[in-house]
Amino acid sequence: MRKIRSYVTRKKRLTNLQQRALDQYAEHYCIPYDPSGSSELKRFIDSGPCFLEIGFGMGEVTAQIAESCPENRYLGVEVYQPGVGKLLHEIHTRKLENLRIVSHDVTEVLYHMVEDCSLEGVHLFFPDPWPKKRHHKRRLIQPRFVSELTRVLKPGGYIYAVTDWEDYAYQMLEVFSSSDLLGNCSSDSQFIDSVSWRPVTKFERKGTEKDHVIRELMFRKD
Ligand SMILES: C[S@@+](CC[C@H](N)C(=O)[O-])C[C@H]1O[C@@H](n2cnc3c(N)ncnc32)[C@H](O)[C@@H]1O
Repeated sequence: MRKIRSYVTRKKRLTNLQQRALDQYAEHYCIPYDPSGSSELKRFIDSGPCFLEIGFGMGEVTAQIAESCPENRYLGVEVYQPGVGKLLHEIHTRKLENLRIVSHDVTEVLYHMVEDCSLEGVHLFFPDPWPKKRHHKRRLIQPRFVSELTRVLKPGGYIYAVTDWEDYAYQMLEVFSSSDLLGNCSSDSQFIDSVSWRPVTKFERKGTEKDHVIRELMFRKD
């Protein structure tokens, strides 16, 4: 798959807590990226209903969702190291055995490491909006990535995406709706009402402070 450059590598200093968590807990809770596949990741995905969260940021919502549903498995994929460190700290503190992290570009993780029809759901909360028109090609939700998402979903599995950028919300609606394999869960074929189990994310708070409308989409694989 041609690469989507959906992020810039931000050089941000790690706090002591984040560095310590990376040093102490990554070995247990991070699954290394491996382009030839990973039996460790496969075992984790197959050990229960598994949900992927793409770009969890600082991971506060990821940890809350995983803690509230211990019967599920959650796989968080994120490239931002302070966020990986923070979520590792949360996993350790909350003793979450149902959450693992792959710290790498999600497009490559899916392509090389996740088998067909293996995930129950995909969460994409406030993906980088790339608001300038010349940067729209860097948005994750575009047909080639969505076909990769539908490949890894089980039949009946869902994609749940939320954004506070109006034009990105409509782009998502168009791209998801044009997939032959996905059906819109909204009764009016547009956006869904807020899902009760999703806590508010950091980027959602930022959007709301700017009076952005939050739009949520849920599509299910036939
Ligand atoms: C705008 S932030 C949203 C963070 C969080 N979901 C929230 O709502 O607070 C988007 C996140 O996606 C991550 N990201 C972007 N492209 C990615 C990719 N290809 N693979 C993994 N993570 C990615 C970024 O590093 C960033 O932390």
